[in-house]
Order: sequence, then structure tokens, then C-alpha cells
Amino acid sequence: MDILGISCYYHDAAAVLLRDGKIVAAAEEERFTRIKHDYEFPHNAIQFCLEAGGIQGSELDHVVFFEKPFRKLDRILMSVLQTYPQSWKVFRESMITWMIDKLWVGSTIESKLGVSKSKVLFCEHHLSHAASAYLCSPFDEAAILTVDGVGEWVTGTWGVGRGNEIRLYKQMEFPHSLGLLYSAFTAFLGFEVNEGEYKVMGMAPYGQPRYVDKVWKLVKANADGSFALDMDYFCFHHSTDRTFNRRFVELFGDPRPPKMQFYTEATGFPKYFGQAPPNYSEECRLNQHFADVAASIQRVTEELLLGMANQLHRETGLKRLCIAGGVGLNSVANGRILREAPFEELYVQPAAGDGGGALGAALWAYHTLMGKPRNGCMDHAYWGRSYSSGEVSSFLRENSIPHQQVENDQTLLDMVTERLMRGKVIGWFQGRFEWGPRALGNRSIIADPRNPEMKDIVNAKIKFREPYRPFAPSVLAECTEKYFELPNAVRHYPARYMLYVVPVKTAEQSHLPAITHVDGTGRLQTVFRQQNPRYYNLIERFGQAAGVPVVLNTSFNLKGEPIVNTPANAFNTFTKSEMDCLVLENFLVEKPA
Ligand SMILES: [Fe+2]
Repeated sequence: MDILGISCYYHDAAAVLLRDGKIVAAAEEERFTRIKHDYEFPHNAIQFCLEAGGIQGSELDHVVFFEKPFRKLDRILMSVLQTYPQSWKVFRESMITWMIDKLWVGSTIESKLGVSKSKVLFCEHHLSHAASAYLCSPFDEAAILTVDGVGEWVTGTWGVGRGNEIRLYKQMEFPHSLGLLYSAFTAFLGFEVNEGEYKVMGMAPYGQPRYVDKVWKLVKANADGSFALDMDYFCFHHSTDRTFNRRFVELFGDPRPPKMQFYTEATGFPKYFGQAPPNYSEECRLNQHFADVAASIQRVTEELLLGMANQLHRETGLKRLCIAGGVGLNSVANGRILREAPFEELYVQPAAGDGGGALGAALWAYHTLMGKPRNGCMDHAYWGRSYSSGEVSSFLRENSIPHQQVENDQTLLDMVTERLMRGKVIGWFQGRFEWGPRALGNRSIIADPRNPEMKDIVNAKIKFREPYRPFAPSVLAECTEKYFELPNAVRHYPARYMLYVVPVKTAEQSHLPAITHVDGTGRLQTVFRQQNPRYYNLIERFGQAAGVPVVLNTSFNLKGEPIVNTPANAFNTFTKSEMDCLVLENFLVEKPA
């Protein structure tokens, strides 16, 4: 049975093909269109999934959409009525998109894919989230927590999964939303909403949570784990372009200008920014204030999530927890839930945000709706498009790109290791691209984590990012506990997907300066031989030479662009940056010394 799951028209559009409950292919649309967070109908991702399955759209047994458009319309109408006349603008703009796209999604699917309407199903937004974690997990029974900006009406749910059934027994509703609270601070700190949340999380360790009391003025936590926002401080419920209002500014001061460079007394002025400005000290002071705001919202977010998780444990008594929704990508909070909530084990799926809804919707239809038994868990994220050696070779030859073809993999790994040891920065492209927002060794930029200068080198050569963005480590799964505070590391699936931030062992921090964040933590990826043998072999080989089986791994893209998909995307990024070498499958491309 072939089921296609689709998510679109909100954040990250994506498509997933399931065959008899097993994933055949899964991809986000942005990788194909090169538009970051592309939310339009995912024509390309669908096309890719169908090709991977060797079928036509008309042969699909079902197509499942990740939310129910009419319920969402209901929420928009209600919130508009409650806040009229301020809401008139948001109403008019919403209606235009709803009338054009969203209400007609069933007909769109029917016409684009050639399937009859009776085959098109709709799953509720948070049920899609819940299914995307629980039905992928190795657990046959687990508590489920979903938290995001907003689905149709719902902003968070508490639930239980047993066998192939999911019961969401309690929910929170718009406008009381942890995702939207975090987004308001994302905007206040000068970042783009739905994009800059990682930056807030990365900036937080540079600050002290000295404004926690002020953040608690905006949100009141209830004893049952739920919470309520004080809407007097926000305007996302009646504005399309503003999330916070004047009262919010009275509390926290003027927002951070979007173009303001980030540095504090602690970071110093990054060399790759050029010459320090004359008002350096004043800018440091201001940025310290903003870092303190980031630390404060991050702390409150963690406390709210812990409150939700603790209550879920009290109510269900279950030992395992599945987390989904955009907030599930807050890997710092996930690390705290693992350490401090009473659950023994967590599962978070790599595309925890709305892209993952496509997967959840398809799994829900197959297992829950049709009652088909579950058949294994998702244990890796490599579900995207791959390119054969033949395709890479044609690309290189057609474009007259000088290269070496290295047939023996061991030789290639030796060559890459030797270059890493010399401080070179390498574009590493192999196999199927990753599902979800993280690069996990198939579309990655890698470097030596022991070099204290490496953060600045990678930033200066490729990423041009501010110093608050930490670089992540990929570590051999079996060696994790030597370097990171994560007992039983091989057991924790979220660590495979960079979804835990944990302390780097104190004694090892000085050996791994390029992947240790300012607060002594790292957002690690555990790498298993079984799921990614070639990347595993590379880290193992590097470990033999360097003494640490860890590489610095950052996503293969330029700032603001989606992660690369094709050899051409990779080569283009390689050329535009100062990356030293590019490995495309078994081909090596180098810049002249
Ligand atoms: Fe969502």
C-alpha cells in the first residue's frame, strides 16, 4: 500500500512516501526550489518521492494532508472577531491565501496527482505531529507531548500512544502558545520568525537570565502544566507583521536592530567582522543586554516545557516520552527534559517541525486509521535524493571541473583525514540528503574540532555567522560518553539527530574547543556504523590520526540558503566560499593552494 503524506502552506512544505508503512522517501521542498522554508505546494518533493517509489500519482492508495483546513479557517475567523478592528488587515490577507490555496487543497491534490478525492484524507495538525514522533519511535507505549506555534486551533497537546493508537487527551489553544511566545522574542532580538529561533538559543549562553521575572509577567504557568499568555503584550493575534507591542517594549527596552552585529566583552570583536567600530564598548553593553533577554526567554521556555513534561508523567505514569512540534527542535530544552523530567527515554524525530507533519499524517493513516501493525522505528534521517557516481562524474566532466576520482574508499578517507589534520575545511557530500533541518554527515561541512581557531576559520571562510552560533560535533556513538555527559548514549535516538545539547566533559573541553559552546555544552550527533558506515569510517580514521573520534560538522550551505541537494548546488557553494576541498561521493575537488 502506497501512502503519500504532504505538509504545506504554513512553514516547511514536505512530502513523504510510505510503502506498507515503511518510509521510501522523505524530503522538504526547500531543498529542490532553493527557497528557505518554502511553504508552497511541494511539487518537487512529491515528484522525488514518486520517482523513488517508481510509481505515478494516480497509483497512490491514499494522499494524506497534515492538517484540516476548515478548522484553521475557523480559528482565524474567531480570533479576528475577537480583536476587530485591529485585526482587519490580518483578516483580509488571510482570506486571500485561504481562498486561493488552503481551502482548495483537496482539489489541488486531486488535480496535481491524478488521484480521486475519495483517496485524499486529512489528519489534524497536532495529531500529525504526535504521530510523526510516536509512530516512528521504538516504543510500543509512550507519553506524547506536542508543542508548536499553532496548528488549526491547538498550540500544544498531551497524549498517550499505545500500539498503533494515539489518544491526545488534553490540549492548549491559540493564542496561548509557547512557540509564538518564543517567536515574539525571536523578532524582538532582530531575527526572522521561524528561522532565527536557533540564534536565540545560541545567544542565550552568552547572557544571564536576569529578566526571568519580566518574562513571567507575559506568561502565567498553571499547576496542571498548561499556561496562559497575557495578550496585553502581544499583537500576533491581530497583526501579520508584528508579534509584540509597545507594552512589551516598555518592559524589555527597544528591540535589537536586525542588522546589528553580535559581540560582547566575553566574545571580543570577531576578527572576520573587520575593524572594531568606535562605539565598541557601547555595542558590547547593548548586546549583553540582548543576550540576557535571550537567556531569560530560553530559561522560561525550558521551565514551561519541564512543567508540561512533569505533569504528563504524573498523569500517565509512563516511562518514555515522544516530543514533536517546532518547539521539539529546541535541543537545549530537550537535554534538560532528559536530565530533569522523570522519563527514562525520549524520542524526537529529525523533522520535528511542520515538515515532519507530512510523515506523521501518512503514518497515522496507515497505522491508526487502517489499523495496520507497526513495523520498526526510524533510526536514521537519510531519506532524501542521492546522486550516483555516474551522475557526479557527468556533472564534473560537463562543467570541465578538475577532480580526482578515488575508487578505493580507504584511500579517500586517508586523503580527507590528512587534509583535516592540516586545518582544511571540507565539503562532504554523499548518499541521500537528510530529512529535517540538520546536516548529519551526508551534506555537511567538516573540520578539525581540536583547533581553537577553527570556529573563526569556518565562519570567516564559509558561514559568515555571528560567534553565538555554535558548531556541532559528530562523534562515534560508542565513544560518546568519553567526551559528553550523556550516559547510555547509544540508547538515545534524539542524539542521532542533534536534538540534545549536553555538557562536554570538563576534562575534554580544552581538547575540543571548536565544538564546545561558551557554556561548556555541545549539540552532539552520535554516528553509528550501521546507519552511516562511510561517515562513521571517516570519523574513525580521523580519530586514529587526531586522537579524538570527533569532527566538527556544520550544514553544507551558505548563510541564509537551504542545505545543498545536488552536486551542482554543492559545487556552487564550494566556489562561492573559501572551503578548501569538496568530496562528492568518490570524487575529490580541490582549490589551488
Ligand atoms: Fe506545527
